[in-house]
Amino acid sequence: MQERASEAVNVSAGTSAFAPFPRSEGYMKLLSFVVSNARRGEIMAVDNYSEMVQLMPDTDTKIETVHQANEECKHILLLEKLATHLGFAIDDSMVEPQWNNVRQHFHDAAKKKNLAGCLIIQDLMVESLAIGLYKLFSSASNGDYETNRIASNLLKDELEHLDIGVRRIKSLMEKDSEAVHDSLVWAHHRVMPNLFEMVYQSCDFLCHTQNLDCDMVDKGNVAIDLNALKVASLEHYVDMLYQAGFDLDVTNQLIASMTSYEVPGRASLGLGECLKDFMSGKPAGNA
Ligand SMILES: [Fe+2]
Ligand SMILES: [Fe+2]
Repeated sequence: MQERASEAVNVSAGTSAFAPFPRSEGYMKLLSFVVSNARRGEIMAVDNYSEMVQLMPDTDTKIETVHQANEECKHILLLEKLATHLGFAIDDSMVEPQWNNVRQHFHDAAKKKNLAGCLIIQDLMVESLAIGLYKLFSSASNGDYETNRIASNLLKDELEHLDIGVRRIKSLMEKDSEAVHDSLVWAHHRVMPNLFEMVYQSCDFLCHTQNLDCDMVDKGNVAIDLNALKVASLEHYVDMLYQAGFDLDVTNQLIASMTSYEVPGRASLGLGECLKDFMSGKPAGNA
């Protein structure tokens, strides 16, 4: 595995030259977990965008949505190539069960022809989580060149998807702001606890199913901390809520509800403080 990791690979564009990177067995397991889940999220994105096409109001937006689904297909293949090249398994037994719930809630919104609900779940909520994850892996502190490069490539697309979502939601809000806000509240209470639980319980999940202690994994010079993702993913979500221009009274209530995601009896993640900063730091009348 170590020899393979030191070979140059053409994963997306061009051939990379890099120093051999030592990857411990535990670190490979951690990568296997993260990539298996990221791939599951990308597969869900293909399903969601494909289902959303029929709800799009005109040909241009249908084509744009098919294009998004196509990009998510490429993300699946990129993650699979990364796994093959580095020599870790894509392991469905490591995939967290909450993905199914998120997919089901999206499907429910699609069945009701609730385009705003679909956009909020996929373009805004799921993309915010993807951005949190890929930002973490593409940050300068990640010395694992190959995972860093793949994450940067994926991040570019996901940022674009979020922008598309924000634009679409703003345009729906111009037509019927109340209905969009109702969809936001509906989607928030169904999807966000699942997404957060997934991130929050990732280390426990690994510990129980793979007997792997995240904190004890020898990651070499990689500063990947799954704990950092817990707060970062919520920060991205909250930031997106402001960016999209939702009514502040509604968003503040939703943000306040997220403090209950802290698990009683467990060490606090400081979500309350983090979310309070957001609520007090944003100028009123942002909506
Ligand atoms: Fe993606
Ligand atoms: Fe995406």
